[in-house]
Amino acid sequence: MARLALSGRPQDVTTFLLRLAKRVQSDRPEFASQINAVLASPTAQQSAFRGVAVEQALPRDVDSRLSLIRVDPLPTPDVEPILDESIRVLMDQLLAERAYQSALAEQGLTPTKSVLFTGAPGVGKSLMAKWIAHRLQRPLVTLDLSAVMSSFLGKTGANIRHVLDYAKASPCVLFLDELDSVAKRRDDATEIGELKRLVTVLLQEIDEWPASGLLIAATNHPALLDPAIWRRFDLIIDFPMPKAEQVRQAVTSILRVRVPNEDLIEAVSIVLDGYSFSDIGRELNRLIKQSVMVQAPLEDVLREYIRGRMSDLRVEQRKTVASCFLRAGFTQRETHEWTGVHRDTLRKMGMSTTDSE
Ligand SMILES: Nc1ncnc2c1ncn2[C@@H]1O[C@H](COP(=O)(O)OP(=O)(O)O)[C@@H](O)[C@H]1O
Ligand SMILES: [Mg+2]
Repeated sequence: MARLALSGRPQDVTTFLLRLAKRVQSDRPEFASQINAVLASPTAQQSAFRGVAVEQALPRDVDSRLSLIRVDPLPTPDVEPILDESIRVLMDQLLAERAYQSALAEQGLTPTKSVLFTGAPGVGKSLMAKWIAHRLQRPLVTLDLSAVMSSFLGKTGANIRHVLDYAKASPCVLFLDELDSVAKRRDDATEIGELKRLVTVLLQEIDEWPASGLLIAATNHPALLDPAIWRRFDLIIDFPMPKAEQVRQAVTSILRVRVPNEDLIEAVSIVLDGYSFSDIGRELNRLIKQSVMVQAPLEDVLREYIRGRMSDLRVEQRKTVASCFLRAGFTQRETHEWTGVHRDTLRKMGMSTTDSE
């Protein structure tokens, strides 16, 4: 239990205690009731139980029986986000504003309370929402609006209000994912009445969101949002596709433990240039699994992958990949075979150090 507590997992401590109380119930009933008293105390309720209690009270769509919202009481991102410097500055300020909340309040200022994330799929919008909640040590309440919009609307209105009321009342980060699905449906002639009311509620809520809370919304299709929605957010952050250097960081963080070969990692990074973070992860995981299944060294699988992708690359990229092969100790002839770059070109590049021909 000490280990669980020290690693900051109150939820697990609670679970452990519940089990312990059950186990000792018959032999040592007094001890069991002491444990239960601790669990029922206000402090325990506030920290560990809050998430659980909320989860049980979550509104469920009547038709689909799916939970419309997800509560992550202790959000922990799987990976440290790789951020563009311009975004990191904004994130740091966002977090700092929370730390200086009372100093700001003395000057009549409020911290940023609503943020809109825009950007292509897989560039880290959901990851950042989780990361911010993690850094603020608040539960992350996610409302997936595309799921909401496709569910029975009559109940949905009430459900959304329920979610928003909960999120406003507790110190959490509310994440409205796929915000554009609301906008998309706004022009849909079929369910106009209820939908319009719903959108109005949502917009009003964004406007009047309390400074104690933080509302983050995300969209892959900012163009679908009407300007009335944009205007309501305190801050809009556009997530760009990863730049070459960030692709390299992402590839390195995934491959580092498996492939101690910097030249190969660089060559792979060049091939994956232009991919989103999630596509990079998916592609590399596929190759890692492949190497396990065909029982081939991952380095070989990666080289084959590069060979297969050479024709998609620009001339400059092909040359850079070739120079990685030369640096890794392949001869000009071998490098030509792997990359298709002409041997004259390789010779002109003059980068071969180990060519014995
Ligand atoms: N900036 C980033 N740095 C590192 N990994 C990332 C980043 N963005 C995305 N990923 C990886 O891609 C996955 C999907 O990203 P996600 O945040 O869901 O994208 P989005 O919400 O923008 O569609 C993440 O779980 C993470 O593994
Ligand atoms: Mg997302």
